[in-house]
Amino acid sequence: MRYLGIGDGAEISRIGLGTWQFGSREWGYGQSYDGSEARAIVRRAVELGVTLFDTAEIYGFGRSERILGEALGGDRESVFLATKIFPLLPVAPVVEQRAVASANRLGVRRLDLYQVHQPNPVVRDGTIMRGMRALQRVGLVGEVGVSNYSLDRWRAAEQALGSRVLSNQVRYSLVDRSPERDLLPFAESAGRVVIAYSPLAQGLLSGRYHRDSRPANRVRAGNALFLPDNLDRAGDLIEALRLVGDAHSATPAQVALAWVIRHPAVVAIPGASSVGQLESNVAAASIDLTDDQYQALNEASARFRPVTGPAALPGLLRTRFS
Ligand SMILES: NC(=O)c1ccc[n+]([C@@H]2O[C@H](COP(=O)([O-])OP(=O)(O)OC[C@H]3O[C@@H](n4cnc5c(N)ncnc54)[C@H](OP(=O)(O)O)[C@@H]3O)[C@@H](O)[C@H]2O)c1
Repeated sequence: MRYLGIGDGAEISRIGLGTWQFGSREWGYGQSYDGSEARAIVRRAVELGVTLFDTAEIYGFGRSERILGEALGGDRESVFLATKIFPLLPVAPVVEQRAVASANRLGVRRLDLYQVHQPNPVVRDGTIMRGMRALQRVGLVGEVGVSNYSLDRWRAAEQALGSRVLSNQVRYSLVDRSPERDLLPFAESAGRVVIAYSPLAQGLLSGRYHRDSRPANRVRAGNALFLPDNLDRAGDLIEALRLVGDAHSATPAQVALAWVIRHPAVVAIPGASSVGQLESNVAAASIDLTDDQYQALNEASARFRPVTGPAALPGLLRTRFS
């Protein structure tokens, strides 16, 4: 495993574990996954040196936090636990109550990273950051983070908190490179961290899905990338991943992760449906892409033009009702 320093001698693993999948109906992995595989994934992740674990109060309405906390057991205090508040009513007393509830479900006395899951479109961050500041003061929260924030709003959140907002968790992969515009340069120059979610584009970049074998669950039924035409269009990008993978004896998914964490300010938090996937994702941390390979992947990613937005709507509706 490789690690990223976050100041004061602390570090987090470059490949973490995302746990939206735990206890969430929308991923549809079922009870045996929640009851045993999820636990085994966490245990193996700890063995392999993963220290960054990401969850949220909204995942499975608290079930993800519970499953993760129980699976970590005695390791809860030695890893870097990140959870998120869904900012429906982001006023300071609510923020404080919700942090306590998350810590209880996780079974910890301190949340290493407490993130605002989405920017609230109406309420600015002054109120929520007042709560965060109080939580830091009493030691219930270590670092504050945000998620799905623009650069302006990330900076405004720092102003409101009065100290650093360590990280911004955003979608970042070979199929969505928008964080490269301003979030990554800022993170690199200011010593902040971008936590890449959906680094495998929810499994698309594994290359295992095609027009005739599409994933069956609610998350991906609602993701335009998995429409048949887009799966066809992704063929060239998957082929580029395979070519690079051949040079490293690695899978397309591993190359896709190695590409994401090649940026010095980025860590990735792929989810996993099995222990085997987790092991493969962890191994991706050791892959060093050459400049030529990195460039070839950038070019293949620029050529991938999926149908998205309103144009994808008829296809998504057909998928939903078929
Ligand atoms: N802050 C936010 O708004 C936000 C939003 C989304 C996600 N997240 C966080 O980010 C984490 C990861 O994002 P995500 O789950 O959306 O997408 P992801 O990590 O890109 O994709 C995860 C899925 O890819 C497949 N996969 C994983 N490893 C694989 C491997 N080695 N080989 C082949 N397939 C593999 C698995 O699905 P199958 O085996 O079923 O194909 C797995 O469930 C989440 O768990 C969550 O913690 C945060």
